[in-house]
Amino acid sequence: MKVIVPLLLAAVTLAGCDQNMEVQPKYDAYAKAPLFRSGVLRDPPAGAMARDALEKNQDAAQRPALTAALLDRGHDRFAIYCSPCHGAGGDGNGRIVQRGMPSPTSYHDPRLVSADDQHFFDVITNGYGAMYSYASRVAPRDRWAIVAYIRALQLSRRASLDDVPAAQRSRLEAMP
Ligand code: HEC
Repeated sequence: MKVIVPLLLAAVTLAGCDQNMEVQPKYDAYAKAPLFRSGVLRDPPAGAMARDALEKNQDAAQRPALTAALLDRGHDRFAIYCSPCHGAGGDGNGRIVQRGMPSPTSYHDPRLVSADDQHFFDVITNGYGAMYSYASRVAPRDRWAIVAYIRALQLSRRASLDDVPAAQRSRLEAMP
């Protein structure tokens, strides 16, 4: 009994402590903010940056080295974020297009084959016509990975036997 009473007291007291920061005076998003003269929440001051903005800007400006790991990552992200519309091969006939989304230009169209890498990066960042921006879902480094994978897709239809390293060529030639 001697032990139980303080334990019970502690349990009751601690239960009362479960007041986290949800319970406090604060503005909900888009709620009226009478503290300010305009009555609405302010824009951030000029020059304010999100915590990870610097890092993201650096990643956007500096493309990562082309490695097999980068291509793998690009393949993975492309399958998730792009293939639903652009199709696994980049022809512009993904599942969503089959259900009514406007059909994007094929990545194998000569205009897109000759477009530079930055164009693809920019389309992912800013969107393009009916396609919305993927900036919030695909980090800059992953955008470069996707661009590398799209280049591989394009090359896959235009490469000649001379592009294959000599060591692997005989393997290809032996294929039926
Ligand atoms: C919800 C469907 C959808 C998804 C998902 C999507 N796109 Fe698109 N994309 C489109 C459509 C539609 C267009 C054509 C827009 C237009 O011409 O108005 C387009 C156009 C493009 C173009 C061609 C721009 C040009 O110069 O013609 C590129 C490159 C592109 N998308 C890349 C991507 C990449 C990379 C991803 C993945 C990160 C992606 N898209 C995801 C629908 C999509």
